[in-house]
Amino acid sequence: MDVIEAIRTRKSIRCYRPDPVPREVLAEILQIASRAPSSMNTQPWEFTVIAGDVLERIKQANVDKFNAGEPGDLGWEIERFKDKCRERQVAVAIQLFKSMGIAREEREKRTDWERRGFRYFDAPAAIIISVDKEHLPRTQFDIGAVSQTIVLVALKYGLGTCIHDQGITYPDVLRELAGIPESKQMIISLSIGYPDGDFPANKVESAREPIDSITTWRGV
Ligand SMILES: Cc1cc2nc3c(=O)[nH]c(=O)nc-3n(C[C@H](O)[C@H](O)[C@H](O)COP(=O)(O)O)c2cc1C
Repeated sequence: MDVIEAIRTRKSIRCYRPDPVPREVLAEILQIASRAPSSMNTQPWEFTVIAGDVLERIKQANVDKFNAGEPGDLGWEIERFKDKCRERQVAVAIQLFKSMGIAREEREKRTDWERRGFRYFDAPAAIIISVDKEHLPRTQFDIGAVSQTIVLVALKYGLGTCIHDQGITYPDVLRELAGIPESKQMIISLSIGYPDGDFPANKVESAREPIDSITTWRGV
């Protein structure tokens, strides 16, 4: 798979086969992906790879908190998007709900859908990417670069991924069950596993703007 094909075919995978991902495969992916650029080659990312019983306990604890209506604490305000960004956000949600046959008024099904994210979309493995709190906020850019690199490398191994905030919404769960210390800020979580090709939402192709509408050319 070449890089263009990988970029074009990558999509968020929100249902996985239960097959475990071998530790050596996950290690190889992270080693290759750590070639991602970072500001002054600081490589501020720290990975916590979670699977097996530990991940199952984390999924359950997240879902318990979600069911109890506990507000999350990402460490920053959740953006309230407006205008074009809001339109795009709504458009992909409509695509996903339509694929799953969930109507606007079906609140319980929508809540069920949301719950999936707190279960890491039932993936067999998850990667939490953290940085030292002393190195915020600029390092968020580096985390974006390494995240996208991980998800592209994963494709080469037949693995799907979903980059998501939901998995770090309850950081105390991860601090307690995965041992992530208070000195680290969790920036993002990635679900990773072999995609369930039959799951309707995994077939959704999210839209992109034509670059003419988002690019200004000068002297070109
Ligand atoms: C920073 C970030 C946070 C995200 N958080 C979530 C999330 O909490 N739940 C979810 O289902 N998807 C989440 N996503 C996935 C986006 O919804 C998805 O990338 C976007 O809709 C485009 O779809 P695609 O990845 O299939 O191209 C997140 C993606 C990024 C980059």
